[in-house]
Amino acid sequence: MRTYTSRFTSSLIILALMGTLFSTSGCKKARPPSESSESATLSGGAGTPGSQDVIRIGEVGSMTGSEATFGISTHMGISLAIKQINAAGGVKGKKLEVLTLDDQGKPEEAATAVTKLITQNQVAAILGEVASSRSIAMAPIAQGHKVPMITPSSTNPRVTEQGDYIFRVCFIDPFQGTVMAKFAAESLKVKKVAILKDVKNDYSVGLAKYFTETFIKLGGEILVEQSFSSGDIDFKSQLTSIRAKKPEAIFIPGYYTEVGLIARQARELGLTVPLMGGDGWDSPKLKEIGGVALNNSYYSNHYSAEDKSPEVQGFITEFQKAFHVIPDGMAAMGYDAAKVLADSMNRAKSLNAQDVRDAIAATKNYQGVTGKITLDEKRNAIKSAVVLKVENGEARYQQTINP
Ligand code: PHE
Repeated sequence: MRTYTSRFTSSLIILALMGTLFSTSGCKKARPPSESSESATLSGGAGTPGSQDVIRIGEVGSMTGSEATFGISTHMGISLAIKQINAAGGVKGKKLEVLTLDDQGKPEEAATAVTKLITQNQVAAILGEVASSRSIAMAPIAQGHKVPMITPSSTNPRVTEQGDYIFRVCFIDPFQGTVMAKFAAESLKVKKVAILKDVKNDYSVGLAKYFTETFIKLGGEILVEQSFSSGDIDFKSQLTSIRAKKPEAIFIPGYYTEVGLIARQARELGLTVPLMGGDGWDSPKLKEIGGVALNNSYYSNHYSAEDKSPEVQGFITEFQKAFHVIPDGMAAMGYDAAKVLADSMNRAKSLNAQDVRDAIAATKNYQGVTGKITLDEKRNAIKSAVVLKVENGEARYQQTINP
């Protein structure tokens, strides 16, 4: 009961804060999935199911918990997109309204949240989650109810394999693994790599596997593979085993919380070799946790804030006006996911679920902030990735790798 209360309070504080922050965006705060009287907050007013002038969208994200920046950044991106869409007249003459539920970074809460959004709030579509493990928990539910779901940035292949109502606007990990394996072999010119992966995280396990496959094909060798579990804080024994093998680089497909700690402990143990990772490193908190230990590190991502294209720079300007921070990759992906959904709804024959699904599936060359988005027959986006270098806390653009 105590855990429930404190969890509930912290979720509400964040959501309340967001409610104030995003009051003009058309985003409506909903209570966390664990709160039973949630439908009461949503009854009445323009957002009532069946209302003629509002299209209700559900969002599920980690607004609290150890990966809170994932949910918060994505939510900011979605909010900005919705605000712009509504200012431009909405979709088929209706305004979009977003109901956001906090899953606290837990797959079972994500599943509860998506069920509530669909069965109680009758949302027309779902945006979320960031983390693949949570999207994998949500997708069968959205599919079962035939409600279209777009994950902004879950990259594990299994997410969209859950069915034909499940989409993503990001690339998948077989590509991301290839990007970093090529970068290691061709740009860093290393041949012997160690891997440290999170066995509790579908994304991490998948990315380690895909990296390995390509790296070996390119003539490289994986000297040792060590593992940890999300939430661990001491990685010294794994890093000591890795040090004994004298790798030329270490690939760490994980999320920023653990990666920051791993970087510090690796440097303390005298491991000065480059550290490499994927989009899970992307968080403003990475530098707070890892500090200078992250110098000489590289990771793949969906976008770089240093990209000079008018799409990226225009987005950054608008985002900064709204939130006074530079958007990270997840914010850009949340923005693109919401825009692709609205664009698809506009193109759809009608707003019924099947027509919206078909329109999303037909997305072609949509010019997003994170590149041109075309969905393939497996409902995955075919897009380029960028490689960033961490330098004194800044993520500097290195190169773009095309599919
Ligand atoms: N791609 C990660 C996953 O699938 C999530 C993520 C995306 C994390 C973007 C950070 C930035 O789990």
